[in-house]
Amino acid sequence: MKKRLEGKTVVLCVCGGIAAYKSVEVLRLLQKQGAEVRVIMTQGVQEFVGSLTFQALSGQPVFTSLFEKSDSAAMRHIDWAREADAVIVAPATANIIGKLANGIADDAMTTFMMAVRAPVLLCPSMNTHMYESRAVQRNIDILESDGCHVVEPGTGELACGETGAGRFPEPWIIVDRLLSFLTPKDFSGKKILVTAGPTQEPIDPVRFITNPSSGKMGFEIARMAEYRGAEVTLVSGPVTLYEPLNVTCIRTQTTHEMEQAVLSRFNGMDVVIKSAAVADYRVDNPSAHKIKKDSDQLVLTLVKNTDILKELGKAKTRQVLVGFAAETRDLVENAQKKVREKNLDMIVANIVGEKTSGFGIDTNIVKFLYKDGRREDLPSMLKEDVAMLLLDRVKELLPTAKRSGGQ
Ligand code: CTP
Repeated sequence: MKKRLEGKTVVLCVCGGIAAYKSVEVLRLLQKQGAEVRVIMTQGVQEFVGSLTFQALSGQPVFTSLFEKSDSAAMRHIDWAREADAVIVAPATANIIGKLANGIADDAMTTFMMAVRAPVLLCPSMNTHMYESRAVQRNIDILESDGCHVVEPGTGELACGETGAGRFPEPWIIVDRLLSFLTPKDFSGKKILVTAGPTQEPIDPVRFITNPSSGKMGFEIARMAEYRGAEVTLVSGPVTLYEPLNVTCIRTQTTHEMEQAVLSRFNGMDVVIKSAAVADYRVDNPSAHKIKKDSDQLVLTLVKNTDILKELGKAKTRQVLVGFAAETRDLVENAQKKVREKNLDMIVANIVGEKTSGFGIDTNIVKFLYKDGRREDLPSMLKEDVAMLLLDRVKELLPTAKRSGGQ
């Protein structure tokens, strides 16, 4: 797994509430991303989770009181504030939100928060009525206008027995939002459409033709583009992946459905990246009922689907158009041909069927080929890293913004 927080210090502020035990998982996920995690706890939360758990897992003393006896604790609220690269307050109770919004600094956590200059991610978690109260909403608004980033609480059954907004978000969501929050927004104002996964062409109501594409590559591109501030639409075939957060996801099944979803949105886009493994043929007249095994042979007639990317190439005005080429041989020649024939700006070419590249795995070995004939050969990389590098290259291909004022 790529460690996106390597060399970073994240301070995790854990406040009172039954959900505090879930912060342990947040700590673990931050560490998996390479972060050094330091924990501050309020007095109240120690009634729910012992500081020893966080101390053992973080390998650091947990900061709980301004009046600890050891010398090293004397200025910890200032030292940690200076050293933090990011802060997560999770769960953030009504009490801490109220204190932070109003500049109250009366314990270890609030004095630290007053001193810290690093980006702050706030994860409110409490009873629904408390969360929806005017006081809490007002205080959240104040903290947002002060520059804090707020992760919406989950909705569902709460520990108090009520149902509504206020649940502690899934730990992976908190870490994902931190990663997004910390990524420079160099695609802000850009609209990107990504396609991913296979398409399925029905044979009868219970069978279909498809391919083994997992959708991972396209989902990583969509996730990284969102991290970088783009407005992202992800059109996918049938896949079993978590939808990237803050991305408009459109599910399709057949090539025809994908075609409609993509073509109808093309005009408004700045960039289209077509990583989907589209079925080139569909069954002519799929059976309305399950086909019975009455005969020894079954012949299916297949008819050609629209080449969606080729249509985009014809309709293209200012958009940067990126294709994918999955090949089993003559990779470069085949990919170059697709760049020309589909009027692409670049293509990501990969050999499928190898252990470290292709369908269903986390790594990929690709080549970037450009319409001007340039080519980049890349080593085996995580799909997440291929996605980031691809976006770097797409950025270079974007038309530069026109100067205002007619100069
Ligand atoms: N593509 C598409 N519509 C299709 C087929 C492919 O939009 N009906 C897009 C894919 O999303 C990919 C690119 O075209 O970005 C190349 O797809 P690929 O399957 O590698 O090649 P094909 O164009 O289908 O050609 P062939 O199968 O003959 O290699």
